[in-house]
Amino acid sequence: MASSQQCTLLLSIMLMGSVTMAAPPKRPVSVPFGRNYMPTWAFDHIKYFNGGNEIQLHLDKYTGTGFQSKGSYLFGHFHMQIKLPPGDSAGTVTAFYLSSTNAEHDEIDFEFLGNRTGQPFILQTNVFTGGKGDREQRIFLWFDPTKEYHSYSVLWNLYQIVFFVDDIPIRVFKNSKDLGVKFPFNQPMKLYSSLWNADDWATRGGLEKTDWSKAPFVATYRGFHIDGCEASVQARFCATQGKRWWDQKEFQDLDAYQWRRLRWVRQRFTIYNYCTDRTRYPTLPAEVQRDRDI
Ligand SMILES: *[C@@H]1O[C@H](CO)[C@@H](O)[C@H](O)[C@H]1NC(C)=O
Repeated sequence: MASSQQCTLLLSIMLMGSVTMAAPPKRPVSVPFGRNYMPTWAFDHIKYFNGGNEIQLHLDKYTGTGFQSKGSYLFGHFHMQIKLPPGDSAGTVTAFYLSSTNAEHDEIDFEFLGNRTGQPFILQTNVFTGGKGDREQRIFLWFDPTKEYHSYSVLWNLYQIVFFVDDIPIRVFKNSKDLGVKFPFNQPMKLYSSLWNADDWATRGGLEKTDWSKAPFVATYRGFHIDGCEASVQARFCATQGKRWWDQKEFQDLDAYQWRRLRWVRQRFTIYNYCTDRTRYPTLPAEVQRDRDI
């Protein structure tokens, strides 16, 4: 017979079960921009709202702009809520990425390629390890990213790098050290975001040019909380490595539900994947083996 104590126990076990279920990264906490970030260039092209809880980047024919995190991080979960430039955004690129600052750098990129009014944005992702990139994947989004805020995030631990759009994994880069592929683990990264003109390549391969009569192009941001192990730029490891939530077992791989979502994104929205580009890579890079399993 179930006493109320047993019920409570059962309930808490069930709750624990849901808490320990794989990834969906923790809910963002709202903090002002200045707590964790600072402008990188063209300071006057960044506008602040609600005490800095929301900001806008402006791009006009004179300049784009960008910002970066004050701290450097080794592993964590890094997210940003972004509303992309509405209307005619052809030729523009909005980026959110992590990058180390050294020569043989590591980098994890989200790049949103603008388009003519009513035409879809492309989301391009890339991963650089030890200075080597050329790992582009491109997808269409399943919503209009200019209408509402959507969350774009990266989970980075010793086991995997996962790109999420609204908690749906769109790409996984597994640690393939066993296959001889470098994986970012000892070079702290800063977070960056920027909005700039790239009409030499961004939209339909550079055919569509930026229409400056539509300027300024405006990207809006919120969610400036950072979940990462802060380390000095020169650090080679993080003091709490292995102990933070993003290091734990349930974040070391996707769960069955997340694999299904990733496959859904793959099947429905992929435009380009370097892993299947035989013209570019007659011999495919080693990590592609892991990508193919998806
Ligand atoms: C822009 O729209 C065209 C036409 O729908 C499409 O071919 C292209 O992939 C879209 N995105 C970019 C960034 O070029």
